[in-house]
Amino acid sequence: MSFRSRKTIESCTADVSGEAGPRLRRSLGVVGLTAFGVGSTIGAGIFSLTGDIAAHQAGPAVSLAFVLASIACFFAGLCYAEFAAMVPISGSAYSYAYVTLGEGVAWIIGWSLVLEWLFSASVVAISWSGYTSAALQSIGLPLPQFLIHSPFAIDAAGHWSLSGAWLDLPAVLVVLACTALALAGTRTSAGVNTVIVVAKVIALILIMAVGAKYIHARNWRPFIPHNTGEFGEFGWSGVARAAGTLFFAYIGFDGVSTLAEEARNPQRTVPISLFASLLICTLLYVGVSLTITGLANYRSLGVDDPLYFALTQAGVSLGYLRGLVAMVAIVGLLSVVLASIVGQVRIFYAMARDGLLPPAFGRLSRSAGIPYLATIITGVAATVMAAVLPLELLGELISIGTLLAFSVVCAGVVVLRRIAPHARRPFRTPWVPLVPMLGLLSCLVLMLSLPAGTWIRLVVWTGLGLLAYAAYGRRHSRLSREAASRSDESARTPNQSSTPP
Ligand code: ALA
Repeated sequence: MSFRSRKTIESCTADVSGEAGPRLRRSLGVVGLTAFGVGSTIGAGIFSLTGDIAAHQAGPAVSLAFVLASIACFFAGLCYAEFAAMVPISGSAYSYAYVTLGEGVAWIIGWSLVLEWLFSASVVAISWSGYTSAALQSIGLPLPQFLIHSPFAIDAAGHWSLSGAWLDLPAVLVVLACTALALAGTRTSAGVNTVIVVAKVIALILIMAVGAKYIHARNWRPFIPHNTGEFGEFGWSGVARAAGTLFFAYIGFDGVSTLAEEARNPQRTVPISLFASLLICTLLYVGVSLTITGLANYRSLGVDDPLYFALTQAGVSLGYLRGLVAMVAIVGLLSVVLASIVGQVRIFYAMARDGLLPPAFGRLSRSAGIPYLATIITGVAATVMAAVLPLELLGELISIGTLLAFSVVCAGVVVLRRIAPHARRPFRTPWVPLVPMLGLLSCLVLMLSLPAGTWIRLVVWTGLGLLAYAAYGRRHSRLSREAASRSDESARTPNQSSTPP
């Protein structure tokens, strides 16, 4: 029974109103929330992936692939906005699944969101380590190789081996620093994040502005290079595959919804911030990818630092640019790690409040008003993964876990329209069921573009999650305990009334 039990919208509202105990502080407005969305989104995707995708899959049409990936996110965003305005609580897709599809699906989604947030924190920390080590090396300060890599390596065929390294120390340090910032409280971490985001956005605009003068339109012809005969290598199939891979660059914009419980006037601010984040990221991605493919022939862009490479290829001889691009990547990735930790903690918090995780995950600190134990546990887990796991293992799992959560949110909008047709909806997804169905379909298409190995890992991860649910969540669920105590009560009531005074 508890697998299918659903929370009501009223009980979610009671959780947030503080009737059920202490609550998170509402300290974020549209600017802070939008900055959180942009901060957790713009990262390794644009700084590294873009060049490789242009060189091997889409050519100059990498910008078109960014637009296609943004459409899938836009449909999902419309569905997120309806839920976030209706049920403005922490937990994002996990909480929405609980009121529509029941506890079991909610658990699976909460478990998948760990892939999106906790794993992201580690993956982006590993990318950060790569950028930082390369930047230090370029100024004559190389770090020892045994301290900047995972002790394990995975080859293209999926075989594991020992790399000879001890651990990825820079990745460890960056996760620890971001955990400390997250512990300082939502206001502080959001403030630091906003500063980083403003710097990141200005620098990307500057790169486009400097590059614009050097663009040669001939580099954009043909815009979609002819397919090589292999699916996914240029042509329209290349654009489709590129959209699937570039979805990684959009992961994080939904982070706005994880902070709904800390937003002022969430019914208004959360939908606005969701769309503002998505729009800002899409414009920057399309602009930067058009710039770099206009500056250099797409075939030459398969390098680690495509932004800097394209600028120098075109003859931009501004010495400060390499430093600027490296700085933007290094500082910009920090905000992705920070936001990923903050987002993950809010999901754990919501699950603990529902009894599906131990109460420690929901305990709030008196001073900062944040779930401090959940923050420490998340930070330690992200640190361990960043220290020892190879990037390849984690990367695609993040995309598939996020797409699964997006699919459930799209389906959930249709379900909630049926089961609670008259509930108050401050934001309504237009053209239901068409828009949610298009969202669901685009997520499924993107999921199908991922390799079989990623699906197998998702199934294994979900299986582990179901075991954890059976071992803990199911037995401690607040909903089940409340239902059990109600039935005990009603079983006692007739006896009591028949007992003579
Ligand atoms: N969207 C994030 C990035 O590109 C995960 O780094």
